[in-house]
Amino acid sequence: MKIIIDTPEKIAEAAAKRYVELLSEKPDAVLGYATGSTPLDLYAELARLNRAGEITFKDVTTFNLDEYVGLDGTHDQSYRYFMDKNLFEKIDVDMAKTHVPSGMDVDKAAEYDKAIEAAGGIDLQLLGIGNNGHIGFNEPGTPFGSVTHVVELTKSTREANKRFFSSIDEVPTHAVTMGIKTVMNARKIIFIALGSAKAPIVREMIKSDVTPEVPASVLLLHPDVEVYLDFEAAALL
Ligand code: GLP
Repeated sequence: MKIIIDTPEKIAEAAAKRYVELLSEKPDAVLGYATGSTPLDLYAELARLNRAGEITFKDVTTFNLDEYVGLDGTHDQSYRYFMDKNLFEKIDVDMAKTHVPSGMDVDKAAEYDKAIEAAGGIDLQLLGIGNNGHIGFNEPGTPFGSVTHVVELTKSTREANKRFFSSIDEVPTHAVTMGIKTVMNARKIIFIALGSAKAPIVREMIKSDVTPEVPASVLLLHPDVEVYLDFEAAALL
């Protein structure tokens, strides 16, 4: 695990460079994307580089980590909508090759791993972290062998995400998420955590034992992870 500590702006630039490098070597790479506030600067930087002609996404295939159960892609809090607005509509990606798990057709969850495999596996997976250590929506206790599945969201996750909804009652109770094994199968992982609220869980992830109780701690077992932290998120290391 390589740890890089810098400002949010420099982190977005450095992480974007990894995409430039990967796509110049492998223009048809398979990219795993994440949602949340954390990747927004990176997505803006990728869109800027795309406009400037320094990177093209025209041959990539993408797979997002997760989606809320019960929200279809037109709902403004769905992760499909988030990706379309914050990245896909701003870059030259082929929309037909972008995948977000379906929040409506959850019986198809197991097919998501098969689709990833059929595309050749994920070359670069982007990850953020929830305040309780979740990656994707793999809440504490999720087995490390899990593949894409439906989860019940914890109260703390629904509380953390209620800021995007009119009230906590509007926050879906379930989500569909790539499993821990799905994430760990990615050939390379870029992990980003920003802000002081993430400092305690970042410390736990890096300093505690590898345990399903801190899902992100599994990343210590991955051979190629770059962990980008801003100074606030790194403050307790
Ligand atoms: C959600 C997503 C995670 C994300 C987390 C953190 O719960 N399922 O993939 O990492 O939020 O979000 P933020 O970046 O807004 O802190």
